[in-house]
Amino acid sequence: MEIKKAEFVRSISRGGEYFNPGLPEIAVVGKSNVGKSSLINMLTNNRKLARVSKQPGKTRLVNYFLLNNAFYLVDLPGYGFARVSKEEKKSWDEMMRSYFEAARHLKAVLILMDIRHKPTAEDLMMVQFVEYFAIPYVVGATKADKIAKSKRFNECARLRRQIPSSFAYEIVPLSSEDGYGKEKLLGILEPYLQS
Ligand code: GTP
Ligand code: MG
Repeated sequence: MEIKKAEFVRSISRGGEYFNPGLPEIAVVGKSNVGKSSLINMLTNNRKLARVSKQPGKTRLVNYFLLNNAFYLVDLPGYGFARVSKEEKKSWDEMMRSYFEAARHLKAVLILMDIRHKPTAEDLMMVQFVEYFAIPYVVGATKADKIAKSKRFNECARLRRQIPSSFAYEIVPLSSEDGYGKEKLLGILEPYLQS
């Protein structure tokens, strides 16, 4: 699958507000700073599409990007950002819940985890959450450029061992720095869009 066109469509915040454009959606989730927005930019060849920041907690809204006029990539705010207030954590929970409740055309969730780290408790909760709703998911192991190519396969196998799961799912090493894993990921996601 080739991404020929990508555009920002809209953001939604919390509270009953939702957006159901009727096209298939793939949601991108993961802890703050793991590289969700960077990955969206990498997949769409547009460095300026989604806002990227060294500071965790950059994406605070649910952002919809329309690709090839055919499907949406949805950039969700990151979890596990330690410095946010209780109030903001609550708003994050509400936003996620209303998104997952409203997203009738959600075909798959891309759960991102840093290739160098152990999954966090919240990563594992996210996995449980999507399994509970029987939504297919793919684990993207981000920042693969930070480790040698020869180690990437083993680190993905290690991640898989650290994720208790009863689902069959794919793990793909990815780098938004150099585009590593792009074709593979798009190839994995494509069939979900047609289902
Ligand atoms: P929030 O919006 O805060 O939830 O973060 P995010 O998951 O959208 O992360 P974002 O894409 O903003 O990236 C966070 C930081 O990681 C930025 O400094 C990026 O440049 C860096 N980064 C993201 N992906 C990669 C990657 O593949 N390789 C390297 N080396 N750095 C990356
Ligand atoms: Mg972001």
